[in-house]
Amino acid sequence: MKTVYVKSLYRDTDSYAGKTVSVAGWIRNIRVSKSFGFIELNDGSFFKNVQIVFGEELENFKDIAKLNISSSLYVEGQLVLTPEAKQPFEIKAEKIVIEGLSSPEYPLQKKRHSMEYLRTIAHLRPRSNTFSAVFRVRSLAAYAIHKFFNERGFVYVHTPIITGSDAEGAGQMFRVTTLDMENPPRTEDGKVDYREDFFGKSTNLTVSGQLEAEVYALAFRNVYTFGPTFRAENSNTPRHAAEFWMIEPEIAFADLEDNMKLAEDMMKYVINYVLENAPEEMAFFNQFIDNTLLDRLQNIVDSEFGRVTYTEAIELLKKSGKEFEYPVEWGMDLQTEHERYLTEEIFKKPVFVINYPKEIKAFYMRLNDDNKTVAAMDLLVPGVGEIIGGSQREERYDVLEKKMEEFGLDKEDYWWYMELRKYGGTKHAGYGLGFERLIMYLTGISNIRDVIPFPRTVGTAEF
Ligand code: 4AD
Ligand code: MG
Repeated sequence: MKTVYVKSLYRDTDSYAGKTVSVAGWIRNIRVSKSFGFIELNDGSFFKNVQIVFGEELENFKDIAKLNISSSLYVEGQLVLTPEAKQPFEIKAEKIVIEGLSSPEYPLQKKRHSMEYLRTIAHLRPRSNTFSAVFRVRSLAAYAIHKFFNERGFVYVHTPIITGSDAEGAGQMFRVTTLDMENPPRTEDGKVDYREDFFGKSTNLTVSGQLEAEVYALAFRNVYTFGPTFRAENSNTPRHAAEFWMIEPEIAFADLEDNMKLAEDMMKYVINYVLENAPEEMAFFNQFIDNTLLDRLQNIVDSEFGRVTYTEAIELLKKSGKEFEYPVEWGMDLQTEHERYLTEEIFKKPVFVINYPKEIKAFYMRLNDDNKTVAAMDLLVPGVGEIIGGSQREERYDVLEKKMEEFGLDKEDYWWYMELRKYGGTKHAGYGLGFERLIMYLTGISNIRDVIPFPRTVGTAEF
């Protein structure tokens, strides 16, 4: 049978009306009476089910009547408009082929399940309404990001997953090695000798593609990466994963101002794209996950993002009179509680915090004239906190060199990065958008484990 997607039936209903169509999918619900029955069939192409009506004239009526939820079927029949019913049309089955049986123990029966329970069945949860909507929106948002950057002439660069340098200089890397670590070769001073490794040196999973993106920005001007990144940070929170996807644009002949403009345009573009292209899914999130979601997203598209310096933000937090778990003082790294208070209570919209103390930000950020702060920008959004981290990069060779010394980094590991400052260096900037945090923001889902198909968090790698 040549099948059509249920999504096409919904989008082009009029052209299918009265015609014979074939669909294939899984039973979401089945109700049977003596001589006829109804099946809610979901084919994965669309958030909504299609209703199938079948009667005893089908030769396999009795077999169909016994089917359990999640059995898979082919259905052929006439598409009939049903303007008085809840669903706009149904298919009157002329033929049903049973493809695969399911058992009564299938865990996703009609009742609602907790997100915690659904995490334990990551192989089945994409068949639930919530996850069907989440992962469809995730796919659309990824496409919207590629579309946004490609429309602006950005080149998509694939940066390496296995790398020899720590892009953030923060030592949160997963080591990759071919050595037998039970019995590794050692140098004279007793340290593991990585020169005997496949790569001939110690290597890690990348924490960020930024440094390599800078290489390409200094050749192509505007580039972006979009790939998996890994952090061995032992933080068991609803916003941290050990494996997450990051979008990292890098723009040459550009400063922090250009960087913020790009980030704001990108966020609005993606939000608009998802609102326009996944209206059913977004309405579902608004109804079942967070009923302020649609208003909030629309507000964001219509308003200008806030801006505040780190120093001003510290003052605002101090003046708020709120008792924070971590007391507020200049020089501290903002914690989630501070970030959320700033964006949710003070600004009530997305806000860029810029010019952080140099000690708490990465080595590559451009030193400001005050010698105390760097040209950093974090974008904070209500409900999530930090969604983007970025900066203008230090393009002055000597300043960068001094910074690396202060941070205790081995210049030999970064020799190629330093050379970019020798051969036609230019001011340039970029940022990283955490893709899972974006999906949390777009859907209202509050735990990162529920926006990535197979979450890798502290203590979980069941799948
Ligand atoms: O602020 P981060 O660490 O910045 C960088 O990695 C820069 N190299 C980016 C750049 O300028 N090209 O990470 C960027 C974003 C964060 O704002 C956050 O959204 C996300 O990545 N992120 C995480 N998401 C999930 N789990 C984690 N453990 C994350 N760590 C960072
Ligand atoms: Mg950050």
